[in-house]
Amino acid sequence: MTTPRLFFAFGALCLLIGMAWGIHMSASGDHALSPAHAHLNLVGFVLASIFGGWYALAPTAQDGMLGRIHLVLHAAAVVVMVPGIVFAIQGTGETGAKIGSVLAILSGLMFLVQVLRHPIGRPA
Ligand code: HEM
Repeated sequence: MTTPRLFFAFGALCLLIGMAWGIHMSASGDHALSPAHAHLNLVGFVLASIFGGWYALAPTAQDGMLGRIHLVLHAAAVVVMVPGIVFAIQGTGETGAKIGSVLAILSGLMFLVQVLRHPIGRPA
């Protein structure tokens, strides 16, 4: 699968889990974990989809390994950060949220590096 498609697939998975979580929060009336739900939707779905859209626009970025590394880094950020926020809210530790935040900022940094290295469109 191409890098943009993998980003979109990961984003769609986060969206589905995030929306199901939102429906559960609405039905139960317990909104305590809404910051974790918000980060799953925003970092997991919205950011991953923006990254996927950019990789689709910049095909030369799909040729190297850096795009795949970026995808794995971003997915790891979400997978570590979201449960980490749950644990932080529940008062059982902040390590996951801290490590997830560092991974997320590294994913943002890698996006900047990629945007600076690769043009939009394929060079003639
Ligand atoms: C089926 C879809 C969804 C449902 C049922 C749902 C439900 C909820 C609920 C019940 C809350 C807590 C509100 C509160 O305590 O004030 C919440 C918070 C939030 N949701 Fe969702 N949500 C859904 C999808 C999404 C999506 C797709 C996004 C972003 C792309 C999103 C972003 C947020 C944000 C940022 C908050 C935090 C708002 C705040 O704390 O002020 N949600 N959601």
